[in-house]
Amino acid sequence: MLIIVLKRSRKKRKAFLKLDGLNAFVALDTRSRTLVAVKNGSPLVAGMGKNENFVASDAAGIVDYTRDILFLEDYDLLSIEGDKITLYDVRSGKEKRLKHQKVDWQIEPESLGKFKHFLMKEVYEQPRVIRRIAHESGYEVVHLANLIKKSFGTYLVGCGTASYACLAGTYLFSEISKRHLNFVIGSEFNYLEDFITPRSLVIGVSQSGETADIIESLTKAKKKGAQLSCLVNVIGSTLYRLVDFKVLIGAGQERAVISTKAFIGQISLLLFTSYALANRLAEGRRVLQKTARAMETILSKDSQSHIRVLARKLWRHDHIYIIGRGISYSAALEGALKIKEASYIHAEGFAAGELKHGVIALVEKGTPCIVIAPPDKTLGAVLAAAMEVKARGGLIIGLSDKNNEIFDHFVKVPEAGLGSLMLNVAVLQTLSYYLTLDRKHDPDKPRNLAKSVTVK
Ligand code: G6P
Repeated sequence: MLIIVLKRSRKKRKAFLKLDGLNAFVALDTRSRTLVAVKNGSPLVAGMGKNENFVASDAAGIVDYTRDILFLEDYDLLSIEGDKITLYDVRSGKEKRLKHQKVDWQIEPESLGKFKHFLMKEVYEQPRVIRRIAHESGYEVVHLANLIKKSFGTYLVGCGTASYACLAGTYLFSEISKRHLNFVIGSEFNYLEDFITPRSLVIGVSQSGETADIIESLTKAKKKGAQLSCLVNVIGSTLYRLVDFKVLIGAGQERAVISTKAFIGQISLLLFTSYALANRLAEGRRVLQKTARAMETILSKDSQSHIRVLARKLWRHDHIYIIGRGISYSAALEGALKIKEASYIHAEGFAAGELKHGVIALVEKGTPCIVIAPPDKTLGAVLAAAMEVKARGGLIIGLSDKNNEIFDHFVKVPEAGLGSLMLNVAVLQTLSYYLTLDRKHDPDKPRNLAKSVTVK
């Protein structure tokens, strides 16, 4: 009721302006049959249909009914009385011009097809996501590479899974294009923003484009005059509309709460951009194509039955450790997050070199330790760390292109250069799925988690 009178009364409008924090309200006055929507910080969209109108927190919820969408800005107040739609600025009370737009997104069918859960369906879409980027994102990654080249300080900002994509990005840019990029977790940006200047480039990485910590970080960077870019999956999202140059991940709608294919898309784009920055775009494309093919091998029946059996050996354990070095360190973190989120087993990813600085104290007889050992410059050192764990009774599960006598169990992961990161993550995504089934949880609806976190 408060909201209904907002547009008419200056006093009540002021009350709304006093509200602190992120919010979006929708209220219905049943007497006058007026629907009012108002927002500050949280996402809110309206859809204009024929003899019907819609309000939702994001456009994906209503595009099945109408493609005529109005994205509300902060302090917009929308009033819908029958066919009469009016927009006000809640600060001044003045009427604003309605700027709705037609969206022509492809909507994916909600069907599971041959899959039991969206989580696995989306993992199986990953080779397609990588190929699409290899074939269609050339222009975007070259443009982004130029922005990085011109900037004085580039920051990758993400939360959760996207934060691990950002961390992996720092390794990719270092190795491929010899360029230092900064990585900041969205919720920590507040405390590290002092270095942002008008010459900085801040790249928000996000599946939903609505994560509050990312929006807040980029808004602050904008105030400091920085240039903004993003890798985002949801067209029209707040992040999409906030930045100067956007790169679409194009993974298609992610329905499972746990992010999989968007992460693979983010890594593919960061890898491709690193190659573009090194003027080796064609080589980047080849690495992506090889990775897509190799991922199909991992998702093949044989390889999956093997991972299924491995899950049966692990699901009763309370703790699983994952180690990797270099780019595989980010794979270890992402793999551990997948296992935690879905199966609720305590899983931790570590940089293998950190074992001796504390983690080794946790290893007991039979403690499972997954060792990410691709045939790259990290191999010798990561196997040495695995040896240390084994000497203390740890159960070693090796992810590598070749078996090794240190491994108690072995999952074959084809060699794909810097694309191996995505392959190791695919193994851990599917392992996490099977662990979740064995522990009788729902892989698509993990407890306490939300698909997009629009609150601070
Ligand atoms: C939530 C989800 C995670 C996701 C994170 C960041 O915590 O549960 O799966 O990685 O938000 O989301 P974003 O949409 O910004 O990538």
